[in-house]
Amino acid sequence: MKVLSVASELYPLVKTGGLADVAGALPLALAALGVETKTLVPGYPAVLKALGNLVKRTEFSDLLGERAVLLEAKHEGIDILVLDAPALFERAGGPYVDPNSRDYADNWKRFAVLSKAGAEIAAGAMPGWQPDLVHAHDWQSALTPVYMRYGETPERPSLITIHNIAFQGQFSAGLFPQLGLPGHALWEALEYYGTISYLKGGLVTAHAVSTVSPSYAEEILTPAFGMGLEGVIASRADDLYGIVNGIDATVWNPATDRLIAQTYAPTALKKRQANREALAARFMLDDDDGPIFCVISRLTWQKGMDLLAEVTDMLVTSGAKLVVLGSGDHALESSLLAAAARHKGRIGMVVGYDEPLSHLMQAGADAILIPSRFEPCGLTQLYGLRYGCVPVVARTGGLADTIIDANEAAIAAQTATGIKFAPGSADALRSAIRRTVRLHTSVKIWGQLQKQGMKSDVSWGRSAERYAELYQRLVSKGQ
Ligand code: ADP
Ligand code: GLC
Repeated sequence: MKVLSVASELYPLVKTGGLADVAGALPLALAALGVETKTLVPGYPAVLKALGNLVKRTEFSDLLGERAVLLEAKHEGIDILVLDAPALFERAGGPYVDPNSRDYADNWKRFAVLSKAGAEIAAGAMPGWQPDLVHAHDWQSALTPVYMRYGETPERPSLITIHNIAFQGQFSAGLFPQLGLPGHALWEALEYYGTISYLKGGLVTAHAVSTVSPSYAEEILTPAFGMGLEGVIASRADDLYGIVNGIDATVWNPATDRLIAQTYAPTALKKRQANREALAARFMLDDDDGPIFCVISRLTWQKGMDLLAEVTDMLVTSGAKLVVLGSGDHALESSLLAAAARHKGRIGMVVGYDEPLSHLMQAGADAILIPSRFEPCGLTQLYGLRYGCVPVVARTGGLADTIIDANEAAIAAQTATGIKFAPGSADALRSAIRRTVRLHTSVKIWGQLQKQGMKSDVSWGRSAERYAELYQRLVSKGQ
């Protein structure tokens, strides 16, 4: 089975969130199941710089009026196709925003061109390799199945995965004529309340739709989570799948992790202490026994970071400490920095994006706090499980699916792996913090939570099998 994955981020080359981790790790897990994946990504400067031995595969002379070269390279086991189109992708700034954090004005074109290249490869534009199926991710590659539907060659099967329905790729309908699609594609696929929505187009035209946890797959059928697309999702309910993400167990392995102060295994949890000390030193925390919570997150409303800011004083009063690593909303950054200034020695904060520090935090903190209002899957709770950093999570989406709450029954049965609370409420977050502090005072129960968490299967194994089965079903149906 040959699969073309089209993604706008790819760990370790370019990452703004979990999509990169998934796009980078899933192909490796699928390879073990006989699925050969090539991943098409934009030729951002970071990608071109990191890849040596790029081989030219073909040229596109007219992708929405743009010229592009298709390059290929292997990197850390991943087969990567790079769409080299300097006019679109060679820029200072992030994959989607300029150095002032403003969306690039031509994002509609950048990702339409990426998607179009994906559709052309699906149709056989790359000499010597044609995929049996295309896997698109989020709005940035959602036009790939649209271009495949309205293309000239017989359509190959496609799957689109929703990593976050809050980002839809919504643009002015006035841009439609520039997308090079037939007029009826507007009404059949893209039209969305007088605008065009790339994600809607992908949801309508892909042969199947998946999202990154079973709970989120159900949630997005409702207005509260569907963010306007719940009707479209409902129309695809028969072809909708929820497959929970796994993690790259090589990158995230406390027994071998070079980014932490001291490696450790579930059988030698005492060794975690050296990481706890390194973490406390890094954030200048007081030296006492109260639990250290960590937060590693985009600072946004989705992630409930306003709720976190509301409860910082209570968290300190309860005897706990907090370390935060994140960036995003400037108002949230300021209120968390203010909390750190108010509570020196109890709250520490680093503003920014720091992959190595995120490893030390998982290895050294006692608990990871994730108060999301919605969470399609979430990866940091999975890293927490693997590192013995007990997840304290809002009961939503993938957080609800991957953590077993430490209620009385689960503690007695020794199955609990974390603490769950109702999303969207500062009061529920406060009680969860109180409950965590109490559980932490019992060395026995806390040790059980850590060990049980470290035993959880957070690998890609089972989920990669589900993707492989789904691919197979779609390919068989298409024949
Ligand atoms: P999302 O993709 O919605 O941001 P996920 O939990 O799926 O949420 O993935 C977030 C990924 O980004 C994780 O790998 C997490 O460790 C990482 N991350 C988030 N913020 C930071 C940060 N400030 N520094 C380092 N890594 C971060
Ligand atoms: C999105 C979601 C997150 C998920 C990630 C990878 O960014 O917000 O919950 O884990 O995609 O699928």
